[in-house]
Amino acid sequence: MRDAAPQTIRLADYTPYPFRIDHVALEFRLAPVATRVIATLKITPLSSGADMRLDGEDLRLIRATVDGRWLDLTPDATGLTVPAAELPDGPFTWECEVQITPAENTALEGLYMSKGMYCTQCEAEGFRKITFYPDRPDVMAPFDVRILGNEDGSTPVLLSNGNPDGHGRWTDPWPKPAYLFALVAGQLVAVEDSFTTASGREVALKIWVRPGDEGKCAYAMDALKRSMRWDETEYGREYDLDIFQIVAVDDFNMGAMENKGLNIFNSKYVLASPETATDRDYELIEGIIAHEYFHNWTGNRITCRDWFQLCLKEGLTVFRDQQFSGDMRSHAVKRIDDVLMLRARQFREDAGPLAHPVRPEEYIEINNFYTATVYEKGAEVIGMLRTLIGPEAYRKGCDLYFERHDGEACTIEDWIAVFEEATGEDLAQFRLWYAQAGTPTLDVAEAWSDGTYTLTLRQDLPETPGQSDKSPQVIPVTTGLLGRDGAELVPSQTLVLREQTQSFRFEGLPERPVPSLLRGFSAPVRLRHGISRADRLLLLAHDTDPFNRWEAGRSLAKDTLITMITETTAPAEAFLDAVMTVAQDPSLDPAFRALALALPSEDDLAQTLHSGGVTPDPDAIYAARKSLTRAIATHGAEAFGQLYDAMAVPGPYTPDAKAAGQRALRGTALRLLSEIDEGARAKAQFLGADNMTEQLSAFSALLSIGKGTNAVSTFYEQWSGDRLVMDKWFALQISLAAPDKAVRACKALTAHPDFDWKNPNRFRSTLGALAMNTAGFHTASGEGYELLADWLIRLDPLNPQTAARMSSAFDSWTRYDEKRQRLIKIELERIAATPGLSRDVTEMVGRILAA
Ligand code: PHE
Ligand code: ZN
Repeated sequence: MRDAAPQTIRLADYTPYPFRIDHVALEFRLAPVATRVIATLKITPLSSGADMRLDGEDLRLIRATVDGRWLDLTPDATGLTVPAAELPDGPFTWECEVQITPAENTALEGLYMSKGMYCTQCEAEGFRKITFYPDRPDVMAPFDVRILGNEDGSTPVLLSNGNPDGHGRWTDPWPKPAYLFALVAGQLVAVEDSFTTASGREVALKIWVRPGDEGKCAYAMDALKRSMRWDETEYGREYDLDIFQIVAVDDFNMGAMENKGLNIFNSKYVLASPETATDRDYELIEGIIAHEYFHNWTGNRITCRDWFQLCLKEGLTVFRDQQFSGDMRSHAVKRIDDVLMLRARQFREDAGPLAHPVRPEEYIEINNFYTATVYEKGAEVIGMLRTLIGPEAYRKGCDLYFERHDGEACTIEDWIAVFEEATGEDLAQFRLWYAQAGTPTLDVAEAWSDGTYTLTLRQDLPETPGQSDKSPQVIPVTTGLLGRDGAELVPSQTLVLREQTQSFRFEGLPERPVPSLLRGFSAPVRLRHGISRADRLLLLAHDTDPFNRWEAGRSLAKDTLITMITETTAPAEAFLDAVMTVAQDPSLDPAFRALALALPSEDDLAQTLHSGGVTPDPDAIYAARKSLTRAIATHGAEAFGQLYDAMAVPGPYTPDAKAAGQRALRGTALRLLSEIDEGARAKAQFLGADNMTEQLSAFSALLSIGKGTNAVSTFYEQWSGDRLVMDKWFALQISLAAPDKAVRACKALTAHPDFDWKNPNRFRSTLGALAMNTAGFHTASGEGYELLADWLIRLDPLNPQTAARMSSAFDSWTRYDEKRQRLIKIELERIAATPGLSRDVTEMVGRILAA
């Protein structure tokens, strides 16, 4: 019943719902296998003679009435239709009782149970698994919720959106789409605090966790308060209810969810203590708490008209959380981290069979479109808009957006229109960023004569599935010019490329400059610039733009690796010297230096080789990275020893950016030193560490050099009682295994008694970790492909969303040699042929195979 015949939904087919929902009252009588939901809706027809279609899945209909009159309705696979003839012309009351089975809901969508606790996940289309309803974001209504807990008293805490009356009744005065509905019930404890808004209102803050986890909420609470303040000062947005609550759950398909006034989080992004969470975990908690909080205005108060507009809330909210994290920590480091992620996930997606525009035009299963393109490229598009129109006009446009559209369900056109009004500019060409898929390439040509330097930029947008003819986009290229001595000749300015090819002249220069292009990564493009090694070394040493300094080093490392892979040469001495200069430069932030020392990932190198017309060999890539790691370690052995000592952070652990940066650089030094000291330092650090960051960096170093056996069992004994720490234990053993051992490690760990494959975090830390071990996953025998396919087939009937997301591991398949392609194709076809396969995985595998 879950999967009706797959249907393609198109943006072009949008029509408004012909009814208005004036009020929703819900009553829940909770019981694990037979929960009753009684929905009472006040409805006004907006056009006469329309049938009323309500979505509904996996619901047992008990009764339905219109104005108290019983109706004899038979639901179909996706809902039910109340014929117009049964409906009055004016306002009426629809009441309906259904029965559902949360205890058997393994898909974690709708109302489900996680370790005895009830919780909900309704985005995108989960509310239809709770009651019959027009489950679409443009239908907004105020909700009243009454919850009756388990009869045995085992659910003392009963939560829903909005303000409480203290007796299990919740009122949310703000009209909202059903995807923002939430309910939680169980044995939970709250960590409480409060926040006074700019206008002086007191807001109660509660983070609900399982008893025993109260001590791990302080950082999340602090991040929440900082987020609330930041949204007031940076966007002028205040919180709008008397209470804001967060609940941590262990079984969750995604990171977190912005339900109105009641955010539900994957516990991984709430719980932290120095002993159990790494610096990276703290950073993610801060960013995700902020992200979900920021949705209150960008997503909740102003929501999406339809799911094609998903980037309206997600791209904007990611951009906002990136700005926030930059303000809290370091903008340079945050930008580098974000670009690394963008390239690893979004550029990869854009270059393969799953490429789609930031605003897609059709889908079969919307859950398959919570992608790096919608989120991360969506955020890049907002960043470009701000760069193009300037921060003041950006803020003015945002103010207008909030003022004009508060309480509405909007489109990208609405969003763009406020900036056209704020600036008086026509942004039609800019809108192409939302409509055209693919990562533009930017080719650079330079000319120099008589003090005039001319830069010629050319943009090309590759073909992507379903899109061939593309138009030039507007690309902001922030540029500065450096002299031979490294001094800045021309400071940063944003060149705006609108044509396919355009030239920009700089006159009256004393010498031929070295250009620093695309500063701050001002647009999500692939820059192709035939710049010499010497000029890149100059940028690495002197650029005033920290992003481009890092980028110069990265491109040198990449070239070095590509040469090592294709010609099996040794790395150039000059490169190794340059790396050491940056590593030891005391004027540079340690976090930045750690990033400068990190080598491009195997997948990044495979992507680069492929786009240059070379078939990537995963084993050769692995070997080259390994040998460059060793070369850097040997070359800088003494300096890394000193760095390792100098970067020790004295005193008790604190998660602040400064301490974290030092630990990051120290961890990098440790990793390199392990190549030459047999893991001696790592062993000592592993045993002596008083925080998870250092314990894990030591554990990783040992696993990377193949000396982790003892640490694996020690770590297990120490942490087997902590689910989140155990996820790390599972993941690292697989992701850091040597290529010929990864599949075996994954097989062994999926047979481990602690492998709970129904828990998405655990599934990701095993099968997801395998997919991330590029050479291991692509092992020539095809066993990696087979193992992942086996598990996806097994997971699909239980949790199609997670299975579908993980199937994207196969999306790079056409990059590889014929033999690997054949092996992958066999597995993809085997998945596709599985009887009863979900709509989610059917769509994903179909798109991947169509490559
Ligand atoms: N809307 C959530 C976010 O980005 C993501 C999400 C989507 C969570 C679908 C669950 C289900 O903040
Ligand atoms: Zn979001």
